Amino acid sequence: MKNTVSTLMQQKQSGDKITMLTAYDFTTAQIMDACGVNAILVGDSLGMVMLGYENTLPVTMEDMIHHTAAVARGAANAFVVADMPFLSYQVSVEDAVRNAGRLVKEGGANAVKLEGGAEVCEQIRAIVKASIPVVAHLGLTPQSVNAFGGFKVQGKRLEQARKLIADALLIQEAGACAVVLEGIPAKLAEIITSRLTIPTIGIGAGNACDGQVLVYQDMLGLTNGHTPKFVKRFAEAGELMRSGISEYIRETKAGSFPAPEHTYAVDDDVISELLKEC
Ligand code: KIV
Repeated sequence: MKNTVSTLMQQKQSGDKITMLTAYDFTTAQIMDACGVNAILVGDSLGMVMLGYENTLPVTMEDMIHHTAAVARGAANAFVVADMPFLSYQVSVEDAVRNAGRLVKEGGANAVKLEGGAEVCEQIRAIVKASIPVVAHLGLTPQSVNAFGGFKVQGKRLEQARKLIADALLIQEAGACAVVLEGIPAKLAEIITSRLTIPTIGIGAGNACDGQVLVYQDMLGLTNGHTPKFVKRFAEAGELMRSGISEYIRETKAGSFPAPEHTYAVDDDVISELLKEC
């Protein structure tokens, strides 16, 4: 059964935790969908994990549409949310509606996600008015990395925490169907979750949220270097890949791959005739 905005809302009401993972391609989306994940986020984190950028800022609408369309083709049941990239919604409300529409029309997304609170409420209202569900995103919003002076936990100070609660109420009032809470203290996420009627989906925000989201390369052990505190590595897929690739190199160099079972046969007479002609 296809997960929809109503499914997510029912899950909040019944206390059934929402599972969301990022994906950026058809094959991964198909695997996640078959596992029964409720929602797939085509995050602009693709700038880092798929395209090798330092942050999400260079990601374009074309990048997002291309990857969203691949994911949508693989996600029969999961609710597909596409990120609106940096500057695709901040400049004007008209831009925001047009770009959200492209993610749905050309990318096949079921909803769009955008970052910010009070400052993007007008955009949320207009996109929702165009019948496109909007997931909001508060806290350590990666598109504000330069304004924050780095990837820093948000909402530790009283004023910041108050603003986050106020923003959460405003985006809900503007029509958002859910909100991602990223990089904020667990107790603050708990307060926000209890104040909202829409589901909260946490990443680095503790387990009181109505659901969780992780970047799949992080949770499957595919990323190298620094792993943020909130990431749990549920598998070591990177190790598996390294071992498979090394074995392929070894067997190919040794001539043991391809073996007869990986090879197409031909009748001996065809070969004898050919050899006579050579
Ligand atoms: O881009 C992304 O993957 C995200 C998640 C980290 C929530 O926004």
